[in-house]
Amino acid sequence: MGVAHGWWTEAVIYQIYPRSFADSDGDGIGDLPGITARLGHLAELGVDAVWLSPFYPSPQADAGYDVADYRDVDPLFGSLADADALIAEARAKGLKVIVDLVPNHTSSAHRWFRAAVTAAPGSPERARYVFRDGLGPDGATPPNDWQSVFGGPAWTRLVEPDGRPGQWYLHLFDTAQPDLNWDNPEIRAEFLDVLRFWLDRGVDGFRVDVAHGLIKQADLANWEEPQEILSGNEADKPRPPMWDQDGVHEIYRDWRQVLDSYDGARILVAEAWVEPAERIARYVRPDEMHQAFNFEYLLAAWTAPAQYAVITRSLEATDAVGAPTTWVLSNHDVIRHASRMGLSAQGGRPNGIGIGDPQPDAALGLRRARAATLLMLALPGSAYLFQGEELGLPEHTTLPDEARQDPTWERSGHTQRGRDGCRVPIPWEADAPSYGFGPTDASWLPQPPLWAEYALDRQQGVAGSTYETYRTALRLRREHGLGRGTLEWLSSGDETLIFRNAGLTVLTNFGTAAVPPPAGELLHSSAPLDADGRVPTDVTVWVRHS
Ligand code: GLC
Repeated sequence: MGVAHGWWTEAVIYQIYPRSFADSDGDGIGDLPGITARLGHLAELGVDAVWLSPFYPSPQADAGYDVADYRDVDPLFGSLADADALIAEARAKGLKVIVDLVPNHTSSAHRWFRAAVTAAPGSPERARYVFRDGLGPDGATPPNDWQSVFGGPAWTRLVEPDGRPGQWYLHLFDTAQPDLNWDNPEIRAEFLDVLRFWLDRGVDGFRVDVAHGLIKQADLANWEEPQEILSGNEADKPRPPMWDQDGVHEIYRDWRQVLDSYDGARILVAEAWVEPAERIARYVRPDEMHQAFNFEYLLAAWTAPAQYAVITRSLEATDAVGAPTTWVLSNHDVIRHASRMGLSAQGGRPNGIGIGDPQPDAALGLRRARAATLLMLALPGSAYLFQGEELGLPEHTTLPDEARQDPTWERSGHTQRGRDGCRVPIPWEADAPSYGFGPTDASWLPQPPLWAEYALDRQQGVAGSTYETYRTALRLRREHGLGRGTLEWLSSGDETLIFRNAGLTVLTNFGTAAVPPPAGELLHSSAPLDADGRVPTDVTVWVRHS
């Protein structure tokens, strides 16, 4: 099938987590003016686009993924004028801007939910959400047995305006994130309008939060399985009634028409924790979204067979629908790959690391992370980077529990530590207050002292630093057109993977012994070769073949 082409099909897209990127006013929470002032870093690094996690008005029950108003900016982060200035400055620097859209649920502070709470059962106000009567004679049992992704039941019971216990509402995430009822045409119309609001302001696309969750199986059938954080459906199990229902696709076909009515290529990116690859490919059929995150890749173990299998499967599945493949190793919901890859158990998605847990091997993790990144950036398709990974930033694994902000920690009854460890404000300058995050020492999550050694100013111009390794990789990727090349496997053994793409030969050594590099000119490597010029364990090299 013909493959789509556009800026996005080969783009490297950098995720900015606004709370933690750069703080202009010193309150310890990053903001839009802070981002705008630091866009030069991203142009210098050589990415094509930025994706901003939510900055909309929100009580911040889930770090902004609880949106109270889809058409404004939270004063914590700035104003609409600041958003406009950010978009303009990004454009001036040649960067595209993608914003986050959260359609599965609103905040409980959204005017719609406030109206629903005071309205009667059966009212149009309640019909915007998923309200049900409880079970049992007094309605005290939740309507079904669904669990929240963050732990605990997925239903909360209201107290009706007259003071009596009343109906229950569904929240697949936090209590403060009521699920919208996407069978209601009013919801569909509202989100088409929200899309236009941001498209009119000049954004280049949307990352669609929980894209696999909007439609629930009509009978809300019981599902006795506990929810893992952000779990989708697994290939070998029946599809859960709350995820990846066929009805979601109609919604994205409608959205696509709106995007296509604008000039330039504006894109939709699905965040859908869905397996297998063929199932996720359905979100990127020609008349739906443009991209979907490849979480199967993120979760794959660091072995040659596992990496070979996931890369091959991913390319086949997206080729079949004519969409570009995407690649991602880190984001704001998972343990940073520089730490994840240093854990003794490989693959999967551990939910946070605490002081008392087995600690990752930091050196091994970083070494593998750099090898993985060079492997990823040599693959055809589009790649996502998460802020700070270009510094080799590890997970903060010793955060004091009392500093934790992720609702997972409380809702799981302190059994799951959650995602704070990857969200710690990033270090720019080793010797500045808050390591240059902001003008003061304030930081909404504490930064560990080892942040100094990862600071950008310690790495700029330092040959072999993680930052310079990323920058070189991004330059070469662009110069050689790796993002629009075609992958050809040369070897897929148990110890090494070797492939060709756009005139380069790429080798990753997963084995225990050093191996000779492919013939040709060595252009880049994730770590130095050994004294005999061989490629050591956990190293990727890029060679221009002769
Ligand atoms: C997405 C976000 C995550 C958020 C959840 C609920 O998975 O990436 O951070 O907690 O949706 O909105």
